[in-house]
Order: sequence, then structure tokens, then C-alpha cells
Amino acid sequence: MQSGVATETPKTAQRIGVPREVFLGEKRVATVPDVVGKLVKLGFSVAVESGAGDLANFSDEVYRAAGAEVIEGAAKLWAASDIVFKVRGPTADEVALMHEGQTLISFIWPAQNPDLMQLLAARNVTALAIDSLPRTLSRAQKMDALTSMAGVSGYRAVIEAANAFGRFFNGQITAAGKVPPAKVFVAGAGVAGLAAIGTAASLGAIVRANDTRAEVADQVVSLGGEFVKVDFVEEGSGGGGYAKVMSEGFQQAQRAMYAQQAKEVDIIITTALIPGKPAPKLITAEMVQSMKPGSVIVDMAGEQGGNCELTVPGEAVVRHGVTIVGYTDLASRLAKQSSTLYATNLFRLSEELCKTKDGVINVNMEDDAIRGLTVVKQGSITWPPPAPKPAATPPAAPKTAAAAVAKKAHGHGAPSEPMAGSKLAIMFGVAAALFWLIGANAPKEFLSHFTVFVLACFVGYMVVWNVKPALHTPLMSVTNAISSIIAIGALVQISPIAGAANRPDSLITWVAAAGIVLTAINMFGGFAVTQRMLAMFRK
Ligand code: NAI
Repeated sequence: MQSGVATETPKTAQRIGVPREVFLGEKRVATVPDVVGKLVKLGFSVAVESGAGDLANFSDEVYRAAGAEVIEGAAKLWAASDIVFKVRGPTADEVALMHEGQTLISFIWPAQNPDLMQLLAARNVTALAIDSLPRTLSRAQKMDALTSMAGVSGYRAVIEAANAFGRFFNGQITAAGKVPPAKVFVAGAGVAGLAAIGTAASLGAIVRANDTRAEVADQVVSLGGEFVKVDFVEEGSGGGGYAKVMSEGFQQAQRAMYAQQAKEVDIIITTALIPGKPAPKLITAEMVQSMKPGSVIVDMAGEQGGNCELTVPGEAVVRHGVTIVGYTDLASRLAKQSSTLYATNLFRLSEELCKTKDGVINVNMEDDAIRGLTVVKQGSITWPPPAPKPAATPPAAPKTAAAAVAKKAHGHGAPSEPMAGSKLAIMFGVAAALFWLIGANAPKEFLSHFTVFVLACFVGYMVVWNVKPALHTPLMSVTNAISSIIAIGALVQISPIAGAANRPDSLITWVAAAGIVLTAINMFGGFAVTQRMLAMFRK
């Protein structure tokens, strides 16, 4: 032993490997040349199996130019990789190529694939299922591959419908006659449904949509659709933004409405899903029969059994003169686009896994997002994750305003500690002493202004703090706009009224000018934030 000081062995950068997808017909690839450079900047080296990007129009040469090594053959690629990025879950043959300590990141669907989970655990590997990301975490949105793939699929569903439909989508008046616009009905307005609504509306169709979750109605309208209600009152939200199985009464009323729509529209696009349950059957064989010949149904729920009784998953069939498209690879049919989005989702995940930017990942089980994704950790099955910690909820029914204020002062929903009461008492004591000092010494005019100021602060506090956190940003933008009132006050002060003109350097003028500048920032900032938020919903 030369010295007693332990030297830390430097961590060697890990290699990310991207194999060619083996699932029949899968055209996507888990990383794209544009993202390779970004992964290298995070400290990783990247290897791609030769031909992995061919079907998505990314050649080996382009990967090489972007800094990736191209490896011939799956066995070599898997053996040479510390981390494997994939789109589809691995097959048993692929799992057999994995080695101890390796990390896999791909779609896995642990609930539907218990055998695959066992195989992965037996190989002593770590597996991150991108489909298990806790989507409600706002930090997780950039990694949300379910959302990016659903967006692509919704768009492609409309393109498939247009391909199978024998008419224009938009209405036209031509010398040869008048063409009415196509009518499209979208069942289920989640991520895919909204993408379909936006695409069909932009092609000029008349778009209608329905969902069991009433809160999506505004989103449907903002994308150019009309929300069609079911004549039955029932809350459709099953938690986390997802739907639940509806009562028999609701389903009956919904069937009556769908039957009516089937007779009226030319195209139906169905996207309705309930997590962990078979897709609800919304379009019956009779409804298909009642549609006009040449109509089209695109059933995006094919993989979960389909929303239409006559769907053949993976195929396009004609029944009663209606083309029913049941493709289960809609995202793969836009391989370049979906690969690019998926690669970006995985890059964002890599950033979270490698905050040190040294090319070594840390699967930190203390991190909510990473915990949710990790379904196998070094050979142990870690799915399902523990129930999420209860979200911050406003106090159920604060008895007094002071109680509500006290609760906020000590963190959302945190149990009130013994210190809370005494701290609050000290705070109130100091405030009372301050007010007494001001009251005893300040001039009379100041006191009347000060009273109004204190009351305004109190009212403002109560208004803003009792609003749900989700509404804070829009509310703030509006209240910012209201600050224009302050600007008017400042303008009155700055105007050349009697006497003021000949003392332009007076303190009031300068304070008013500063007031105008600050409120202008507040006002225009408020409008800019509102615009940006609205734009997010429009796209
Ligand atoms: P999904 O693919 O599970 O379901 C699609 C749609 O079908 C949902 O809108 C659902 O309400 C609807 N549906 C289910 N049963 C139905 C029925 N019988 N009739 C009509 N419609 C029915 O859901 P998706 O698209 O993956 O996400 C749904 C929602 O989840 C989003 O709209 C959003 O609110 C929420 N979400 C939230 C995220 C976040 O907070 N960051 C991220 C992603 C989604």
C-alpha cells in the first residue's frame, strides 16, 4: 500500500446502443442523427445497428456523420452497449442478448407483459418503461412519449381516412358544381383525438367530437370542432386525466347519440380508451350499416380490442360499404416524424438520468418520474410503483381566514407543527407593534392612504390564494392587465397640472414615471403570457 488515501476510480462514459427494431412492420428507430450529437454532449458514446434507421429515412452514413458508431449485427450491438434505447419492448430473443447490469429504455407495458418482466428480471438488468412515466408531473411532459406518439397517430388517422374517402374534406364551389364539406365525428378527445380534430378541421371538414370527460369540451372547440354532449349527466373522469367505465344508463344514452351521428357523418375516428380496460365498444354493427356507402371509420383503439364491433385490428376492411381502418401502427406510418419526437423524449429522459453530464446514468429511485418509469431495477421487479404521494390540496374547510392563512404559511397541506402557533403569534405581535408605531407618528393624510393600501393587500391576498394553483397563471395575467389602473393613476400624477409643469424634477413626477414603466412591464408581460398560453392550446 502506497498511501492511506483512497483514490476514486474515474467513471467511464457509458455507451448507448440503438438496435434495429425487429417487430414486423415497425419503421421507427429510437434515436435520430440530430439527437446523437446531443447525447454525445451529455458525455455518452452512441452506437447504432447498421440499417436501424433505414425505414425512417436515416442512413448509416448520416448517423456516422452525427458522431455515432455503426455496428453490424444485433448481437454485437447489444453486447457493446451499457444502455439500450428501443421503441418496441424487446422480444425474448432480444432479452437473451442482454447482459447483467445493462439498462433498457423502451415501451414495455408491464401490466400487459408479465412474462417479459420475468425475463428481464432473470437477466439481472434494469428496465425503464417509457409508457409508465407519471404523466401528470409537469416536469415529465418533455419525456412523454405516449403523448408524442398519440399526436402523430391522431394526425395519421385523418390522413388514412382521407386516403380511403372518395371526396374532398373541404367544401368547394366549382364550375362543375357545389361540393359539401365532409363531416367527421371523433369519439374520444384525448391527445390522439384532439390531434385528429385539429387535422380534420384544418383540412376543411366539419368536425364534431364527444368524450366522457366533460372538461375536454373547450379544447375541442378551440381546435375548430363542436362538442356533442350525451344526454345523461355523469362525471366521466376516473382520475389523472383519464376516463372511467361509465354506467349502463350513460352508455345507453351515448349509444343513441352515436347512432344519430353515424347516420349524419362521413367519417368516424375513434380513439376512446380506459387505462387497464378493454376499449369501450362505441360503434355497433348496426351503426356501421346505417352509415352512407363510401364512409370511413378509423379505429385507433384496435390494439385494445377496438371501439367498433367490426374492426379487424391491423387491417383495413370493407363492411356494409364502409371502410373500417384498424391499423395498429399509425405512428410507425410517419416513421421519420415519430422517431424524431421519440428520440427527443429519450434525450430529455437521458438528461434527467445524467444530471452530472458525464455520460453515466443514475437511476435515482427517489425521483418521482424516474421511480415511475423504472419497472425492473438490477433484476428486481419494481412495478407497480408505490401510490403517488397525495397531491397538495387546499384545506378542506378552513374555519377562519386566519386559519387558512396560517396553513398556507406552513406549506401546502403540511400538518401544523407545534411551532406554527407561536410563530404566528410572534408575526402578528410584530405587525401590531409596527401598525401602532405608524399610527402614533404618521401624518393624518398618510394614514388614510395607508389604511386603503393595507385593505387592498388583504383583499388581493384572499382573492389570489384561494384560487386553485392550476388557475394561478391565467389569473395573474389578467390581474397584471388590471394594473393598467395603476398606470392611469401615475399618468394623472405626471401630467402637467397646475404647478407641476414648473417643477419637472419633483419627486412625485419621477415616482410616477417609474410607476408607469413598472406597470407597463406588468401589463404587457401579462398579455404576452396569456397569448403564449392560448397559443399552446391552439397548436
Ligand atoms: P387515452 O388514450 O387513455 O383515452 C383517450 C380518450 O378516450 C380520453 O380522452 C378518454 O376520456 C376518452 N374515452 C374513454 N372512454 C370513452 C367513452 N366511453 N366515450 C368517449 N370517450 C371516451 O387518454 P390520453 O389521450 O392518453 O390522455 C387523456 C388525458 O390525459 C388527456 O386529455 C389529458 O387530460 C391527460 N394527460 C395529462 C397529461 C399531463 O398532465 N401532463 C399528459 C397526458 C395526458
